[in-house]
Formats: sequence, C-alpha cells, structure tokens
Amino acid sequence: MARAGLRSAARSGQAVPPGSAAAVPITEVDVSTAGARPTGMDELDRVLGGGLVPGAVVLLAGEPGVGKSTLLLEAGALAAGAGPVLYVTGEESAAQVRLRADRIGAVSEQLFLAAETDLAAVLGHVDAVRPGLLIVDSVQTINAADVDGAPGGVTQIREVTAALMAVAKQQTLTTVLVGHVTKDGSIAGPRALEHLVDVVLHFEGDRHSQLRTVRALKNRYGPTDEIGCFELGEYGLIGLPDPSGLFLSQLREPVPGTCVTVTLEGSRPLVAEVQTLVCASTMDMARRVTSGLDASRVGMVLAVLQRRAGVAIGKQDVYAATVGGVRLTEPSVDLAVALAVASATSDLSLPPQLVAIGEVGLAGEIRRVPGIQRRLAEAERMGFRSAIVPPGSGGLPGTADAGGQGRPGSGLLANVREAGDIREAIAAALGK
Ligand SMILES: Nc1ncnc2c1ncn2[C@@H]1O[C@H](COP(=O)(O)OP(=O)(O)O)[C@@H](O)[C@H]1O
Ligand SMILES: [Mg+2]
Repeated sequence: MARAGLRSAARSGQAVPPGSAAAVPITEVDVSTAGARPTGMDELDRVLGGGLVPGAVVLLAGEPGVGKSTLLLEAGALAAGAGPVLYVTGEESAAQVRLRADRIGAVSEQLFLAAETDLAAVLGHVDAVRPGLLIVDSVQTINAADVDGAPGGVTQIREVTAALMAVAKQQTLTTVLVGHVTKDGSIAGPRALEHLVDVVLHFEGDRHSQLRTVRALKNRYGPTDEIGCFELGEYGLIGLPDPSGLFLSQLREPVPGTCVTVTLEGSRPLVAEVQTLVCASTMDMARRVTSGLDASRVGMVLAVLQRRAGVAIGKQDVYAATVGGVRLTEPSVDLAVALAVASATSDLSLPPQLVAIGEVGLAGEIRRVPGIQRRLAEAERMGFRSAIVPPGSGGLPGTADAGGQGRPGSGLLANVREAGDIREAIAAALGK
C-alpha cells in the first residue's frame, strides 16, 4: 500500500544533515515558543489573533497620516515592559519620535530609538540592543547599500524585507514593518511584500473622522476577518471595544433613503447605516457614486431593483454611502442598500428602529447569511425593534422557537420578518 511504502522509505532514509533538527513526534513539539504574546492593545490583539507570535514578521500598511507611527509607538512602549524594543525611524528624527511619545504617553526605559535609513546599520542596532520586538518605520525608507534601485522601489524594499525576515527567523525576533500605501490602496512596491511576510495588516480611516480600523489581509497565525477599532485623538489611539452605534447617523426624524443593517466582522457584529440619495441627473450618463460600499455590488442591487421589483431608477444619479467611514463589503449589506434605494425613490422613510440583513441574488431572492442570531442580538442590544431577514433563518429572537430559551437581549426586537424576495422585503419595509 502507498502508506506502508512511504513508511519504509522514511525508515531507510538518510541521516539528518548536520545543522538541521531531527524530526520529532508531533506530541513532543514544544509549543510554548509559538504562542501569541498579547501586545496589551486589545483591539490590535483581536486582529492579530491574540497577539504577536515570536519571530513573526508583520507588515502594517496604511496611508500617510492614518496613525501607523502612533499605533506602533504605543505598542512598542507596552512591549518594552517585557524587554527591550527597538524602534527604527527612517522618516523622522529621534527627537520628533520622542515628542510624539511624550504626547501619547509611550515612554519607556526599554524602548530604544534609532533614526536610521541604512540596512546594515539597522542590523547593527539589532545586534547591540538585542530587542524582543523590532519596529521599522517605514520599510520604504530603509536602503540596502549593496542593492541597485532607488530607495523605496520594488527591488530595494524586497531586499530589505528579505534581509529583515532572515534575521527575524534566525533570532526569533518579532518584527513589524510599516508600509506606505499609495492612493489607489495598494502597498507601494506593487504588493511585493505581501507574500513575503507572515501577517499583513491594513490600518484605515477617514481623514475627516477620528475612527480608525485595523484589519488583517493575511495572517499565518490567526483569522483574517476580525477588525479592531480605535479612536485617534491628541493623546494617541484609544481602543473602542464597543463600536456599534458609531456608524449610525443619529437622525432625530426618519429620512427617506436610509436603512440600518448589522454586519459581522469576524466574531464582532456591527450595527451600521447605509444612506442613499437618488436624484435627477444633469449629465448624459447617470452617476453611481459609492463610499464605504462595494461599487459593483451596489450596481448589481440597483439592477435587481429595476428588473425584479419595478423600482424606477432609470437615468437618475444614485449616491450610496456608509456613516462614520466604516467599510461594509459583506453581501449581507445588499438588502439594506436595496431598501434604502427603494425608500429614496419612493420618498417614503423606513420605520425607525428597523434593521435589514440579507444577501440579494440576481433573481431577486434574499439569501441567508451567516451568524444571523448574533447579528439580531446586537440589533436588539442597540435598541432596534424590528428586522427583515432572509427566509429559513430559524431560531431568531422574538420568534416562537427561540422563546424561553434564555436568549440574549431585552426582548425589544419583537418583530422579525422573513422576506423571500426583494418585492416581499420592500412590501414589509415600506408597506407597499
Ligand atoms: N500634536 C498633535 N496633536 C494631535 N494630533 C497630532 C499631533 N501631531 C500629529 N497628530 C496627528 O496624528 C495623526 C497620526 O500621525 P502618524 O502616527 O504619524 O501617522 P502615520 O505614521 O500613519 O503617517 C496625524 O493624522 C496627525 O494629524
Ligand atoms: Mg509615520
């Protein structure tokens, strides 16, 4: 048999070459060195899957000014409680970093600063300080002298990253690299680093709001669907363990064109609002403008509304946006977009305290989405009273089969309606 053949081949195999460790039974592998160490910033740890894994190389990418240096200085100062941390800055002077550290309260005896742009010198500082955590801000500013190419170019950042990765793995040195993101959202150096490193985090936020989110695009050691939420203020970043409600407009009177939904980012349900505006176009081509939503999904929902529910959008301009700078890209947001647009075109507002959750299919059907109970429990916690959900969601709060089983919430969400298709959902929401 193939398996027996493999086994005998393994037995008769050659001796392990010098320098590499012998294979050991999986039960005898020491896991204590591979466990994630919490950074002390709960919202960051949530995204990392518990914390930083020793020897991991993490790329933190984001646009200039979003708060990358602030985040890492705070994390570095916290990590310095457990041993030396080396913060290499290629963009600012050590004095500027010190000023920021004073402002945000990130000063520690064990936090070492080096203003450096030469790779060999950075490695020299690593040898001198022997840190447990190395922060390089940013990878684009570090230059390898023996490599051609402009600093920050693809060749350079790839070489620099490869060299730092090698050191990280040899010395089990946890390393965080800052990467600048260009306007189109790609990490400069055409995403050249994403496949090299172990973890890729994106730090995002609207320039005009203080809300910041961290999400993992890649994580060798944990989930990639969690998000961490922070508020960026004068004194640094404050974790927001309960961000629901930040993404609602708090309008006193219901306004046509808005609808609330509940997304599920990893294990965290978030109540968030979709706002739309439909108005006569002044151009030949009607405009479709989205912010915080997936433009192609919004386009699809508009087509479904026109063809399957007779909603007359025609050549009008459609604007669709989220509140508070949150990004809603999950298919479960479709139904809220559809109801918001139906509400906007009919100029009838949806009932206050209603949430809509469901994916819209091209046939006009409403499809089930994962985690409906968790989403509804969150809606209830936030004071919502009615919901429109996909058919067959089952065991919902407020329905007979969930009653009396110690369901979470206050029992406010009394009216949960299942809608099989988009017409039914519009009728349930707008009473037409
Ligand atoms: N003295 C200050 N008071 C309040 N906010 C500041 C101060 N200095 C800088 N900031 C803000 O902190 C934000 C984050 O800066 P920084 O962490 O350097 O971002 P990044 O490293 O991503 O470019 C910036 O948007 C900036 O406006
Ligand atoms: Mg910076």
